[in-house]
Amino acid sequence: MADIEGLKVAKDYHVGENFANQGGFYVKGANNLDWGMKKHLSNIFDPKSGNTVMFAFDHGYFMGSTAGLERLDIVIPKLLPHVDCLMGTRGALRSCVAPENKKAIALRVSSGSSMLNDDLSHEIVAVDVEDAIRMNADCMAVQTFIGADGQLSSIDNISRVINAGMRYSIPTLGVVAVGKDMERTDRFFKLATRIVAEMGVQIVKTYYCDNFEEVVAACPVPIVVAGGKKLPEKDALELAYKSIQGGARGLDMGRNIFQSEHSVEMAQAIGKIVHEGFTDKEAYEFYLDAWH
Ligand code: R5P
Repeated sequence: MADIEGLKVAKDYHVGENFANQGGFYVKGANNLDWGMKKHLSNIFDPKSGNTVMFAFDHGYFMGSTAGLERLDIVIPKLLPHVDCLMGTRGALRSCVAPENKKAIALRVSSGSSMLNDDLSHEIVAVDVEDAIRMNADCMAVQTFIGADGQLSSIDNISRVINAGMRYSIPTLGVVAVGKDMERTDRFFKLATRIVAEMGVQIVKTYYCDNFEEVVAACPVPIVVAGGKKLPEKDALELAYKSIQGGARGLDMGRNIFQSEHSVEMAQAIGKIVHEGFTDKEAYEFYLDAWH
């Protein structure tokens, strides 16, 4: 481990310079992976735009019944046609999602806390890789708590999942958690996303922040941006636009879709930004026209 005394500030991000090891495969950092990994990644990231709209409905894994997700059996089938990838727990997927659907699956495999705990950073790997294979998961999602009390166990969790994923060619999605006492600065996200990427995940999920382009540039695998708390639709679309402009390869949104009064139109508007190059203003106009 390097001596951290006298550490220089990282600054040469070469923002705007294309990722160098792109080769023949379009997903960042995946050029040297095998066929199975590439197949799963191409189920998640649209081969044309290179991007993805993930719909996150895994909130119940620690929040229980969440506003907007009270009836998974009604909400998910309604939104499914308008997104690329479903991010959920095995319980929600098996009980409420028709197996005939053609969408990619991001399977939440870590859990262990609930909203009743003060410290949410202690999790376990709750789903084994054989069940992820049975569910035909395209990636396994694990929460990582860099800088939190549960950092070590979350690194242990993610390492186990990556090792299992490497055995069976299933990508791992490293979710960068932000606890209530953790900073949401580019300094934190550069640290956390890079640690998670260097552990070996194939996709990182994190939050948008200032200097987001630098976070993206320093991360050798694709970043998808989490939505976070419900915002007015206009603001959520601005967040989506800024994320894609900043180099994110997709959005992994939950509440800003399923808590919207017009959730289908909202999912469609996000898709316009992610896949069709719409600006936030154009997407908002689309959203308004679509439900009026
Ligand atoms: C985090 O990993 C959560 O379980 C959600 O998947 C995530 O926060 C995305 O949902 P939202 O856009 O509602 O924050």
